[in-house]
Amino acid sequence: MARGNAELTGEPHFVFYHPMLPADARMLITGATSGIGLEAAKQLARMHYSLVLHGRSELKVSAAAALVRDVAPRAIIETVVADLSSLEGVRGLAESLRSRYTQLHVLVNNAGLMVDTRQESADGHELTWAVNHLAAFVLTLELMPLLLAAEGARVVNVSSDLHKQAHLDLQDINLSRGKFNGVRAYANSKLMNVLFTYELARRLSQSLVTVNCLHPGFVATQFDRHLTGPFKLAWQIGLPFAIPPAEGAATTVHLASAPRIVNESGKYYVSKRSRPSSKSSNDTMLARQLWDLSEAVSGSKLVI
Ligand SMILES: NC(=O)c1ccc[n+]([C@@H]2O[C@H](COP(=O)([O-])OP(=O)(O)OC[C@H]3O[C@@H](n4cnc5c(N)ncnc54)[C@H](OP(=O)(O)O)[C@@H]3O)[C@@H](O)[C@H]2O)c1
Repeated sequence: MARGNAELTGEPHFVFYHPMLPADARMLITGATSGIGLEAAKQLARMHYSLVLHGRSELKVSAAAALVRDVAPRAIIETVVADLSSLEGVRGLAESLRSRYTQLHVLVNNAGLMVDTRQESADGHELTWAVNHLAAFVLTLELMPLLLAAEGARVVNVSSDLHKQAHLDLQDINLSRGKFNGVRAYANSKLMNVLFTYELARRLSQSLVTVNCLHPGFVATQFDRHLTGPFKLAWQIGLPFAIPPAEGAATTVHLASAPRIVNESGKYYVSKRSRPSSKSSNDTMLARQLWDLSEAVSGSKLVI
């Protein structure tokens, strides 16, 4: 779909416009069962958006939906279940959403994890890159028909300032060489979130879909639940300095709902403001190579 060209003055120049989000826009939040995702859901539900909460287990996502309904009793809250560590799980989720809906206005790729031992997904991919990047890549591309149909849809990718610590080697995307370092795996995956955001924004520049990413801050969630030993200790030591989840959800909510974001795409946000991201994240060649690799590994393609 071509980006809308409004010739407002009859002059031979074009004005880009993006339609505003409808008041009852439908928003999907992945990893909405706890932490930042759950808090973002509560805040967006209070604004009366229709929410689709994703979780890995029926039990957890139903409990999350109940918590959201407690704070926003009139909001429309639906739930979906999928394990994002498997490509089959991600595709199944996209398929069920495509069969249920004709439009999706906002996709928040929030689900993520950090682990301190090397683990592989069902498809044989290192778990951190499988969940934090590959799942978001595939879900976004597979949901593109719904996003394009919504006119003025938004993709919001939850990254981290830790992307600045990445040492990304696309030849060793599964981190199978040398000693595994969970922080490096995580930082790499968060760099991939920014690279994916910028590359997708470039590829969608002729459409009405915008794509942005963010660092939520250091947020007091249970993000350390898969960690042990020194990683867990470091998290626990830092916790007194962390912001509460409600505050940590603010930039996600801003990108998902603020009117001014309609004309913003391909940006990295911190504290609701566009900020510079790392040098590597602006490497367009690296972004293209990551895109090609993600396409080859997943088999998903962007169809506009
Ligand atoms: N907390 C921070 O300081 C911080 C800082 C920067 C960036 N972030 C980013 O913020 C996002 C949310 O993190 P959080 O701090 O809110 O942590 P969290 O409470 O642990 O939330 C993570 C969510 O992702 C889900 N998830 C993990 N693996 C999954 C899988 N294989 N399939 C489906 N869902 C899965 C979790 O579901 P389960 O409950 O089933 O595991 C949970 O709902 C992440 O992308 C993280 O990288 C957090």
